[in-house]
Amino acid sequence: MIPAPASTVGTRPAGGGTTVIRPAARLRGEIRPPGDKSISHRALLLALLGEGESRIVGAGDGADVRSTADVVAALGATVERIDEATGGRTAGYRVASPGAAGIVEPTGVLDCRNSGTTLRLVAGIVAARPLFAVLDGDASLRRRPMARVAEPLRAMGARIGGRARGTLPPLAIEGRSPLVAIDHASPVPSAQVKSCVLLAGLGATGVTSVHETFATRDHTERMLRARGVAVTTERLPGGRRLHAVAGGQAILPRDELVPGDLSGAAFWLVAGAIHPDAEIVVRDVGTNPTRRAIIDLLRRMGATIEERSISPAEDDGIGEPSADLVVRSSRLRGIDVDPGEVAAAIDEVPVLCLAAAVADGRTRIRGAGELRHKETDRVAGIAAGLRAFGAEVAVDGDEIIIDGGRALAGAVTEAHDDHRLAMTFAVAGLIAGGETAVRDADSAAVSYPGFFAELERVRA
Ligand code: S3P
Repeated sequence: MIPAPASTVGTRPAGGGTTVIRPAARLRGEIRPPGDKSISHRALLLALLGEGESRIVGAGDGADVRSTADVVAALGATVERIDEATGGRTAGYRVASPGAAGIVEPTGVLDCRNSGTTLRLVAGIVAARPLFAVLDGDASLRRRPMARVAEPLRAMGARIGGRARGTLPPLAIEGRSPLVAIDHASPVPSAQVKSCVLLAGLGATGVTSVHETFATRDHTERMLRARGVAVTTERLPGGRRLHAVAGGQAILPRDELVPGDLSGAAFWLVAGAIHPDAEIVVRDVGTNPTRRAIIDLLRRMGATIEERSISPAEDDGIGEPSADLVVRSSRLRGIDVDPGEVAAAIDEVPVLCLAAAVADGRTRIRGAGELRHKETDRVAGIAAGLRAFGAEVAVDGDEIIIDGGRALAGAVTEAHDDHRLAMTFAVAGLIAGGETAVRDADSAAVSYPGFFAELERVRA
């Protein structure tokens, strides 16, 4: 069960998962966002694949990462919460695993709850083992498209059934060992699809390759390399990428220090930039080049974001860089965002739309169609939510057009059980006149359990 946000003064739960936000006079303070969700999922899953013990310090403690931890345990690893601190990062997991060959057939359904990353990456892992597994999730996950992973895995030799002719969860997977390598061109830019196919490729004969039309987050590639697996990435013209991995390579166990989640930090970056009296320090945030687009997009809009590097980006494509970010009140202007930038800031688009609603002039976000397939239809959800605040938002096919600069008025908003919409509307509530109600605010705990407590702290 996802816990409800803490009861506080300027922010109060109003029952039924609704939280009320009042405007803040000023925003000040230091925030440490939860550990990066994408890296935490992968650290757990790669710990399952590597024989031996791996410690994951600073792992995110949201419901999604817990779903992955539970699935990893159901597949035969011993997973324990640990409470240890290294370099300012605290708590996480210790995983002891028999390795890929020791993965056991789960006795029950693997419940991925709200987490698409869990379901899609685990599909790639179990498809390459000689076992039967059923992957399921909550009502939201059961609506999300799975053909994008089921089709390549079938082409590699796994048998996969599911609702809607094998395209919706629950998915029933009969794995095969070994699979056969494929050369896959994903129809959508998706790090989940890329990761699923590369993980399956580790259990295939031959070299599996994945073509991407736009670069997506490369945590899987970096983290596999750090665990002794040779994964190649070729940069092609137009931002395209070609990744390849040979099957049969062993994954070494390894400790991971997880940096803070930039996708969680993004709410504070936007809050600080749009609030007229703000200075917020966001500590130890992952700034992986394939993830950092939101920082650069906000700067292009005129946001003052200072970046103090903690560990610099390496050229070897292995480490995960991080930085402290300081954001101050800024005057924003509208920008054009292209489809490649959408792919690089896919989870930050909702809060970017809020920045656009406050900015002077027009923002056009092209190629936003993938947002319709997230925890909810985020194109419809963000348009309806921002309009409720009085913003001017138009949707034209896969394009979102926002004419910014109108004063926002407090509103009743629907997060549709989507954590990123809930947090976006809560941030809007900090600058909107009057009271803002965020329905389904407790969904924030999917990625950011302490979000509403932090919101109270920075406004105090
Ligand atoms: C993720 C990839 C993205 C993102 C999701 C996490 C990942 O999904 O939206 O929150 O960890 O690989 P897609 O790859 O489907 O775009």
